Amino acid sequence: MITGRKILLCVSGGIAVYKAAALTSKLIQAGAEVKVIMSDSAMEFVSPLTFQALSRNDVFFDTFDEKNSKVIAHIDLADWADLVLVAPATANIIGKLANGIADNMLTTTLLATTAKVWIAPAMNVHMYDNPAVQKNIQTLFEYGYEFIEPSEGFLACGYIGKGRLEEPEKILALVTNYFEKQEYGEPLKNVKVLITAGPTREKVDPVRYFTNHSSGKMGYAIAEEAAKLGADVTLITGPTSIEFPSSVHVIAVESAEDMYQEVMNYFPKTDVIIKSAAVADYRPVMTYDQKMKKDHDHLVIEMEKTTDILKELGRQKTDQILVGFAAETNDLEQYAKKKLESKNLDLIVANNITTEGAGFGTDTNIVTIYDRNLAKTELPLMSKTEVARKLLEKVHCLLKGVHE
Ligand code: PMT
Repeated sequence: MITGRKILLCVSGGIAVYKAAALTSKLIQAGAEVKVIMSDSAMEFVSPLTFQALSRNDVFFDTFDEKNSKVIAHIDLADWADLVLVAPATANIIGKLANGIADNMLTTTLLATTAKVWIAPAMNVHMYDNPAVQKNIQTLFEYGYEFIEPSEGFLACGYIGKGRLEEPEKILALVTNYFEKQEYGEPLKNVKVLITAGPTREKVDPVRYFTNHSSGKMGYAIAEEAAKLGADVTLITGPTSIEFPSSVHVIAVESAEDMYQEVMNYFPKTDVIIKSAAVADYRPVMTYDQKMKKDHDHLVIEMEKTTDILKELGRQKTDQILVGFAAETNDLEQYAKKKLESKNLDLIVANNITTEGAGFGTDTNIVTIYDRNLAKTELPLMSKTEVARKLLEKVHCLLKGVHE
């Protein structure tokens, strides 16, 4: 998605310059064209040669060193860029930009560009919190600059707090998302999408519970992709160990009952519901507040059915689009079609969890999507992100009233 996109990376001086080098490499690997401007302080940390080698382009740092006599370098670079990233952005650069100061190659170019500029601050936590810096950030925000907020963690100065340059992978994801939005627009803008993901945990006692192998990857991928397409996304997730997707409202739950309560709460305000969670079908009838002792050679735990959330949604649905999943080990088509009908779904995504590359825990899936007319779309092995995108294309068609 960023192949051929022209990205101007403005690097100012801080220890995080090394991350800017990694970012350059990632942008180039993703197909972007990258040109780099460095401030004098940035060059104290890393030499321009590093960025030249990684970007395979000249690096600019001196306003008066005109490499091409046919153009004025800072204007030419400012006009060339599709997107300008200032990473890392020091308090000094932020201050200069907020006050219209143009005293070097980097700041003159920043003032001259009409491209979108994203600023990724990196500095000591107290510097970042300083009212002068915050005021400058606010000013720039009001001028239309966008910020990639620093993350929290261990800082080079020894403090722990907010001030770390966001990780290059995350910045790359934001850049990709930006260009994707430009390319596709936001077909799900103003659409409220509710997604469930992950397993549930059914408590036995304070140390034991019943659960399953769902990692949440499938549901999180759908949430992330839906948000990229402009949807207003709520993700209700069981316990997982993966990071919550950005730009999504996340509600963390434990048990099937918790998930049921939250889903029913959001359901009336939702246009599309996608239930990829692996909800427990049964829970222990009795739960214990204290740890059970192993006094018996055999233990029988009586289980009772949980509420079938999807079925309940199917019963109550009015004009919402309802998408279910079917995780099967055999007779995939037969069971999927049965669930589609009995739960009153608009689409069902069937995956055979015994097939390699499909189902629980993997980054990929192999699914077949059935619609109400039982028309099926068989998808080959693809990443969960691609599956999510294909599924959301179908949802979009249904929202427009188009049946493929
Ligand atoms: O999380 P990952 O590791 O990425 O794995 C992805 C996945 C395998 C979990 C996912 O692709 C998947 O198949 N999700 C559905 C798992 C499941 O519970 O399937 P099921 O066939 O048992 O249930 C059918 C549907 O009813 C599902 O949409 C389920 O969310 C829903 N259900 C089930 C039981 C229940 N009490 N309430 C429900 O709403």
